[in-house]
Amino acid sequence: MDFNYTEEQLMIQKAARDFAQSELLPGVIERDETETFPTEQIKQMGELGFLGMMVDPKYGGSGLDTVSYVLAMEEISKVDASASVVMSVNNSLVCWGIQTYGSEEQKEKYLPRLASGEIIGAFCLSEPEAGSDATSQKTTAIDKGDHYLVNGTKNWITNGKTASVYIVIAQTDVEKRHKGINALIIERGAEGFEIGPKERKMGIRGSDTHSLMFNDVKVPKENRIGEDGFGFKFAMKVLSGGRIGIAAQALGIASGAYELALKYSKERKSFGTEISNHQAIAFKLADMAVNIEAARHLCMKAAWDKDNGNNYDVSGAMAKLFASQTAMDTAIEAVQIHGGNGYVREYHVERMMRDAKITQIYEGTSEIQKIVISRSVING
Ligand code: CAA
Repeated sequence: MDFNYTEEQLMIQKAARDFAQSELLPGVIERDETETFPTEQIKQMGELGFLGMMVDPKYGGSGLDTVSYVLAMEEISKVDASASVVMSVNNSLVCWGIQTYGSEEQKEKYLPRLASGEIIGAFCLSEPEAGSDATSQKTTAIDKGDHYLVNGTKNWITNGKTASVYIVIAQTDVEKRHKGINALIIERGAEGFEIGPKERKMGIRGSDTHSLMFNDVKVPKENRIGEDGFGFKFAMKVLSGGRIGIAAQALGIASGAYELALKYSKERKSFGTEISNHQAIAFKLADMAVNIEAARHLCMKAAWDKDNGNNYDVSGAMAKLFASQTAMDTAIEAVQIHGGNGYVREYHVERMMRDAKITQIYEGTSEIQKIVISRSVING
């Protein structure tokens, strides 16, 4: 078994690290404070190929594997989880979804602009009453012959206001339950499509999260992804891959918090010595290091499964479950190691603690991951 990364993967990791340090770090506290979307930085990420990492070069993407994507996500997330959620949704849910299940026309029309960052995508599944229970879609897409008429509300949509292309999951045939759901591409500016107010969030405050309202929005049939009724399976498949991206985000938050805590513990003195010399602190660092290493292995295993054509529903769920818990635990302990300094903005770890929490909630809560894992454990 070879645990080494390839030259190319190491190059991607370094490029992402350099970008995060030079372009994301300087304004990250202010963007969090003012809830400002990293517009300029996302544009740069597009130019560097970070927004269409797994997109085929023939559609303008970087043509990289999922392992490279995880490496880049970790580096970006170490510094700015608001920027990395934009990256994650655009890569995993939107680009990968269209590339894998879209028509040739959809790929040609949307992928080059999504991969370059000229436009950003959003994935719209959650509703006021359909978060974890994703089959209970209330948004309807009624078949009107050559188009669908879409009505309903979507909630907590990442890139809600910034996106230009929205993949919207909606119910066409209620009788058929999840087999009557479709995934439709809706463009910003479509008549009857309104963007609701911005959510005021605990963390990832630089990302823009909105509710969306669809009022008799006409969507041409050619904007449906896959066959009629494929929408729920599409959402599940796309989310399975998305969970690897969010696991990598969680891994990044954890390793970012750990690196700051480690550095601080070697500089800060108490009782006549650096605090890293106190076993109370040293043991925390040891626990962090072990959990981060375990989370990294789970993330890489899931990415490897995806790259090698294996089923990654369960490995992705395991990676997300464990990495998000690690992010939360590590960020809390990083604040603790920083003491009073950890509680104030300029030391970064309090933001990481707030950002970590969402990784246990979006793209399936930890409880959802346990449903996916336990079903596989019990039923094989
Ligand atoms: N791949 C392919 N098909 C799948 C699948 C997968 N991974 N998971 C389920 N399915 C299929 C099943 O095979 C079944 O199809 P058949 O009837 O043909 O056999 C169908 O989907 C229904 O499956 P279940 O009976 O298992 O469905 P369920 O109602 O029990 O739900 C669930 C399963 C795992 C709980 C699912 O509802 C789920 O994942 N919920 C969480 C949704 C979620 O992650 N939301 C996050 C919103 S997006 C977001 O956060 C993005 C963002 O902005 C950052």
